[in-house]
Amino acid sequence: MSAVLVSSLTKIFNQGRTDEVVALSDVDLEIKSGEFVSLIGPSGCGKSTLLRLIADLIAPSTGTVTVAGKSADAARREQAYGIAFQQAGLFEWRTVLKNVELPLELRGLSKAERKAKASEMLELVGLAEFAGHYPAQLSGGMQQRVAIARALAVRPPLLLMDEPFGALDEMTRERLQSELLGICAQTGTSTVFVTHSISEAVFLSDRVVVMSARPGRITASIPVTLDSRDEAARQSPHYFECVTAVRQALRGTPLTSAS
Ligand SMILES: Nc1ncnc2c1ncn2[C@@H]1O[C@H](COP(=O)(O)OP(=O)(O)OP(=O)(O)O)[C@@H](O)[C@H]1O
Ligand SMILES: [Mg+2]
Repeated sequence: MSAVLVSSLTKIFNQGRTDEVVALSDVDLEIKSGEFVSLIGPSGCGKSTLLRLIADLIAPSTGTVTVAGKSADAARREQAYGIAFQQAGLFEWRTVLKNVELPLELRGLSKAERKAKASEMLELVGLAEFAGHYPAQLSGGMQQRVAIARALAVRPPLLLMDEPFGALDEMTRERLQSELLGICAQTGTSTVFVTHSISEAVFLSDRVVVMSARPGRITASIPVTLDSRDEAARQSPHYFECVTAVRQALRGTPLTSAS
């Protein structure tokens, strides 16, 4: 079964008004179970809109979104996915542990279960010793990791991430990329990851989906088949071929296969 199935999706904001914006036009996208797909494209092309449609935070104008065979609405109610956006979006008055526990609370887990699961997730992102801290006491990268831990706490089959590492320095970013890949591999999570970075998209993804400027459409889908996802991968010929293919697709140059 597909993790996400998007069919003929169109999103028009302020339809019929003078400030009407066609943000997405006729988008078809399938994310397979366990697949890591990045969305890349120029600013304003509709990447966040597509993610928000999948998360059922906004409704499509036409077309459908299916998450693991269910409607986007049903998937949201069942918390079938975790979300991590550019801003960590933590609750300042809750400790790190209590932030990660929140989705578990919403699911009605007992206090002991919540604590055990949240602690396990914090361990996974390397923040166990900061469980009792408040978000303001953490660096931006650490806050981002808390947001990722929170998104993963319910072990969602699907993770939706909108430039989660956008504001981080290169070294922190690379470390979190590796951590994220480790977590996804360990949990079998399917991921839709929005980024502006070609190298990040290629390094993380099984497939890079390239979008065009408004109205947003998918113009290319570039498979990445790196043998490993370590430092060596960043130096491999296939990595550079994929980076070039994505760059060409972003420029609108007719595409030859990346492989
Ligand atoms: N709530 C809204 N009301 C009206 N227009 C909107 C709304 N949200 C987004 N848009 C418009 O839809 C288009 C796509 O926006 P979106 O945020 O999806 O772009 P993006 O690809 O995520 O850009 P960026 O890379 O800058 O984050 C833009 O033209 C934007 O102005
Ligand atoms: Mg965006």
